[in-house]
Amino acid sequence: MAAIELQNVTRVYDRGASEVRALRGVELTLEAGSATAVVGPSGSGKSTLLHICGALDTPTSGTVRVLGTDLSRAGDEVLTRFRRDHLGFIFQFFHLLPTLSALENVMIPARMARVSSSECRSRAQGLLERVGLKARLGHPPAKLSGGERQRVAIARSLILEPQVVLADEPTGNLDHETGASVLTLLLDLAHQQGRTVMIVTHDMEVAAACDRIVTLRDGRIDTGATPERASHAGSAAPAAAHSPAAED
Ligand SMILES: Nc1ncnc2c1ncn2[C@@H]1O[C@H](COP(=O)(O)OP(=O)(O)OP(=O)(O)O)[C@@H](O)[C@H]1O
Ligand SMILES: [Mg+2]
Repeated sequence: MAAIELQNVTRVYDRGASEVRALRGVELTLEAGSATAVVGPSGSGKSTLLHICGALDTPTSGTVRVLGTDLSRAGDEVLTRFRRDHLGFIFQFFHLLPTLSALENVMIPARMARVSSSECRSRAQGLLERVGLKARLGHPPAKLSGGERQRVAIARSLILEPQVVLADEPTGNLDHETGASVLTLLLDLAHQQGRTVMIVTHDMEVAAACDRIVTLRDGRIDTGATPERASHAGSAAPAAAHSPAAED
């Protein structure tokens, strides 16, 4: 079973008199244990695609299956529970709570899921150690660097052990070196832990490090411009020769 499967997905946003067709018939299959980059010009539908895969938005038509659950037909309550239990989100601007310490920020989703406080604490400590922040547990976000904040956000996204991790421009606000270390963490989640990772990015270096690149243009997957890597995770897109010159 594919981890994520989209069939003929469209998303039309109503803007009063006009409408925006953000996705126009997207077919996409992502396998567990793989990291996929989603690239494309601004406004091409990348975030919309990520939100639909993450049950933050629902398609206007088409089918979205994540871990075998049909999200396109699920109600709000099911979607909320599904997000909590199976999905981890990472965004460009971290979204940490400024008054809480790194440790407390990481604990939040587990506290909300009513995991006992001692268990929350030990999981959060373990995750912050894993992302290299053992010495920063008590620091509030304001006393952390951008890369450290993003690593806190990654640790937080993992506390309920999601099978699917969705990241929208996770390195967009980081310098090159810090971005590279965050990227390594995300790739390890796929390759060492078998999770399904989707990374929306403008950075072609980030994209090239992923197993696969999906290019969106005007709400459609541009198969002609999608280089495929044969080395990892047999994803279902049409095979195209890997050519570094084929991208933007
Ligand atoms: N909530 C919304 N209401 C109306 N239109 C929207 C909404 N969200 C996105 N859009 C429109 O849908 C299209 C796709 O937007 P989306 O945010 O998915 O693009 P993107 O590829 O992520 O762009 P960027 O690289 O700038 O983040 C754009 O034309 C955008 O203006
Ligand atoms: Mg976006």
